[in-house]
Amino acid sequence: MKHILKKIGRILKKFFLINVINHLNKYRYAVNNHYGSSKEVSLLYEEYKTELNDQKFFELISEIYRNYSIDDKSFVEPRIISKYNDEKVWDQYLKRKTGEHYRLLITILKIIKSKKFLEIGTFRGASAKVILENYPIEKIHTFDLIPWDKFDGTFLEKRDFETGKISQHIDDLSKKRVFEKYHQEILESDFIFIDGPKNYNFEKQFLKYLFNFLENHKKGMTIILLDDVKLSTMCQIWRSIDHPKVILDLVGHWSGSGLIMIDNS
Ligand SMILES: C[S@@+](CC[C@H](N)C(=O)[O-])C[C@H]1O[C@@H](n2cnc3c(N)ncnc32)[C@H](O)[C@@H]1O
Repeated sequence: MKHILKKIGRILKKFFLINVINHLNKYRYAVNNHYGSSKEVSLLYEEYKTELNDQKFFELISEIYRNYSIDDKSFVEPRIISKYNDEKVWDQYLKRKTGEHYRLLITILKIIKSKKFLEIGTFRGASAKVILENYPIEKIHTFDLIPWDKFDGTFLEKRDFETGKISQHIDDLSKKRVFEKYHQEILESDFIFIDGPKNYNFEKQFLKYLFNFLENHKKGMTIILLDDVKLSTMCQIWRSIDHPKVILDLVGHWSGSGLIMIDNS
């Protein structure tokens, strides 16, 4: 009897855990604040690959860690533009030397000598402005569902757009027709930064289109930085990516900056 009850207990526990994990794959639970003690519910998935990653990729990772603190010395921190004093809170993210991705973006751009950068998630323009102020980029295409100037405070200014170096597109690249509309912009970008909703559906759909498109049409190398890969809604997606990949701890975002290389050279 005791043995049967134990077995039932184990089955119920497994059933319960599978349901909890399936739920966490789709829904995010977080306590966020602006003062460095945000908390997120995450998931751990076992790595199961038997082969070593690409040598070129290892060299890229080494170079990122070698150059990061050197690049930091000349890093220019943009400031938020707002008439509201409490909006200044956004400035502190750019001051962080670890646990954020702003300096990392510049280090990667410099190493790969990027010309064209594509971003999902403009938000208040912090990442885009960091690039405009720290790197001679030729073109930034940044996507969001909310225009950059609809926030109370932003890092971007009208004059940033007048130079033609940056364009914002209010469009959802997880929709097939929209993705097809931007084939050229995607193809031309050597660095793609994905920092959108992290609601599982967007990332799953967009990455499916992106990997399929790059594998079939891109010549040369594309570097992808996928943000927040440690969030519960991103862990399964991260695990499913079948390209050289690594989470850049220390130099990346505390919530997981996932670096991916697609090399068709
Ligand atoms: C975390 S913020 C981006 C932060 C910014 N990249 C930075 O580093 O400063 C995420 C942004 O994704 C945007 N977003 C949500 N759904 C989106 C979608 N389907 N396509 C593009 N952007 C989306 C949100 O409106 C929000 O502004």
